Amino acid sequence: MYRSNWLSFEEWKDQGMPILGTTSTEAVKLYDAALTQYVGWYDDPVMGGIAHTMAKLEQADPNFILGKAFTLSMKLFGFSENYFYNQDLKMEVDGLKPAIQMSQSNWLGAASIWEEILDEYPTDLHALKMAFYMYQYNGQRKKQFNAVERVYPFFQRNNIVNAAYTDGLYAFVLEETGNYSEAEKYAKMGLMKNGYDGWATHALAHTYLMQKRYGEGQNFMKDTCKLWTTANLLACHNYWHFALFHLSDGKADEAVYLLDNEILPRFRSTQTPISITNASSLLYRLFLMEPEKCPLSKDQMATTFNEIYSVSKQYLNRHILPFADIHYMMTCIGSGHTVEAADLVETFKTSPYATTHPEMLPILVDFMSSMLYYHEGNFTKATDMLLSIKNSLHLIGGSVAQQDIFNQMLIASATKSSNPSHHKISQDHQL
Ligand SMILES: [Fe+2]
Repeated sequence: MYRSNWLSFEEWKDQGMPILGTTSTEAVKLYDAALTQYVGWYDDPVMGGIAHTMAKLEQADPNFILGKAFTLSMKLFGFSENYFYNQDLKMEVDGLKPAIQMSQSNWLGAASIWEEILDEYPTDLHALKMAFYMYQYNGQRKKQFNAVERVYPFFQRNNIVNAAYTDGLYAFVLEETGNYSEAEKYAKMGLMKNGYDGWATHALAHTYLMQKRYGEGQNFMKDTCKLWTTANLLACHNYWHFALFHLSDGKADEAVYLLDNEILPRFRSTQTPISITNASSLLYRLFLMEPEKCPLSKDQMATTFNEIYSVSKQYLNRHILPFADIHYMMTCIGSGHTVEAADLVETFKTSPYATTHPEMLPILVDFMSSMLYYHEGNFTKATDMLLSIKNSLHLIGGSVAQQDIFNQMLIASATKSSNPSHHKISQDHQL
């Protein structure tokens, strides 16, 4: 199921990707091994996992620019580090143009540079994946689609390794732009080539969800979980999708079972911002439910939120990415840390991110404030605030499915609002 013959200099050249900047065959092969695990979302046990592979890559040739760009990009896109937070990064990223943009949270500036690299090397999966996520977490769905669509044909040549992973990438951008029939076709094509492909699995899950095919989604995730859990770096998020099928199908108990037995254990073992977003967004959906329909008591919910908060607190007020911030806000509110929640709003206003992205300032401040109003029971104010920014909320980033939390919030607060004109809103905002 895993590749083991890593590409040499000559073989990279045959792929249309001549590797420059090193004479180390070991470094070149380790770059392939690290990139393959990243694209496939798995830790290869033979290679000691992706983190170990990257450490070996750095040791093999510390001056190998492409390898350094890869390891730095991975670090910078973990939602926890940037130039403003960690000054040492400036040294590390010196001379690495896209990484410099990423280190300053200039995600779209970085995407432009990754795109320039793709102009020259359209089969550069490293550049493609990076551009893909820069757009994903900055609300640029159309650009994300265009980035994949324009290079996808180049992967159809016979000898491109890892080309099968681009079916899942293409399926995802088709789904995010509303072309569900084509998305399903490409996701299934990717899974035919590699049943272990966690991202193609994920793209198909998105496609089922958007079409409200909850039963098919649940069966698919259940029947194939032995395969997609091998993509261990994505399994937490794929379980989030599995739980979402249950929740959307009125089976909140089963969603809670997956939260307790699959999502939280993965959150505990990784403690990454990404795992925080999965755990907190599912829990926040349960928090927004009417209490009589929610299987968790108030105390149980507060205990779990508190556990997530205890990990999140190290990342508060860094303001690397709005998408991460809104999930930290969920953990602050859900765990009763209202002072820290208010601080999160205030510190965002003067953060380097807000200075360099002034267009995001009112959107994020109003969204996080609406969460606070909701928590305080001021549902009318929360609803008014959400309505005033609802057409801009997509800029916070994340997938359509992840952004459904905005709809859930609007529905929950409009339903409880004292303004009768808000009560009709809930019917118009179901996913
Ligand atoms: Fe997803």
